[in-house]
Amino acid sequence: MITGKYPNLRLRRNRKDSWTRRLVQENTLSPNDFILPIFLIDGSNKKESISTMPGVFRYTINRVSQIVDKAIKKGIPMVALFPKTKNTLKNDLGTESLNENNLVCRAILEIKKRYKNQIGIMCDVALDPYTSHGHDGLIKSNQIINDETIEVLINQSLLQAAMGCDVLAPSDMMDGRIGQIRKALDNSNFKNTQILSYAAKYASSFYGPFRDAVGSKSSLKGDKKTYQMDFRNSNEAMREVALDIKEGADMVMVKPGMPYLDIIKSVKETFKIPVLAYQVSGEYSLLETAINKKLIQKNAVYESLVSFKRAGANAIVSYYADRIDKILE
Ligand code: PBG
Repeated sequence: MITGKYPNLRLRRNRKDSWTRRLVQENTLSPNDFILPIFLIDGSNKKESISTMPGVFRYTINRVSQIVDKAIKKGIPMVALFPKTKNTLKNDLGTESLNENNLVCRAILEIKKRYKNQIGIMCDVALDPYTSHGHDGLIKSNQIINDETIEVLINQSLLQAAMGCDVLAPSDMMDGRIGQIRKALDNSNFKNTQILSYAAKYASSFYGPFRDAVGSKSSLKGDKKTYQMDFRNSNEAMREVALDIKEGADMVMVKPGMPYLDIIKSVKETFKIPVLAYQVSGEYSLLETAINKKLIQKNAVYESLVSFKRAGANAIVSYYADRIDKILE
């Protein structure tokens, strides 16, 4: 690889001015690289701050256009919807996930009515925003039961697709759900609904602020280690991704982001399919808090986002997406 040596080779020559640095730049960022998560709450006319995620808010349905407008103006291709379900609507079975008047369904209808196909909508497929125990699946004798959970996830998928969701994103990590959801969608004439599988999703401590934002933190009993992956493993991530591709995933996600750049790179190099990275809530909170305390520069956000592109990600789910113009300035 190295074709010369010092002193006739000096790598600093290509860095000497801004124009030459721009010329040899290997990775860039644009608004097209981003997905903006949006948190939803019940009620009317509210934009509520989230103490663990400074700069991020929860919106009522009638205020959601405020943030979607912003995303469209900034050229963001897709938003991801996450509901904070009222505790009174949660139960063991997460039945609110199948209510066609739930927050996510109402938000999909509202956004599609106003904006048609100007922006894509992605929705999680998982039960944790709806269950009283905070788990992504159903529980029987203290176990998260796989196949019975898939039955509910299929119905949740069909409902969200019927409302107009463009991209279904199973984030539950049950075995075999991608194939079953794909089959059900095809049988119900939703052949064009895309599936973005959270294929390599780790049982991570970086999800804390998100669970706070959707209100599942205090209710979560135990941890998610019997379905989300052990962060000590990387071969296992390749197996998860391989299976989900076989089952029909159009795109795959690696989550969290920054501590898992090695996984993003291996997935991209091995499978050559669209890979998304999720810069999760804990990563956001760390960066944002340090910036607010002036411990690091704002540019650290740009640096962190470029790292995903360098690793091979096609796009990034980030709570910074609504401020991407300022970050790219
Ligand atoms: C739900 C879900 C989680 C996140 C996205 N979808 C949390 C979890 O699995 O506990 C985390 C996102 C973030 O931390 O920003 N299955």
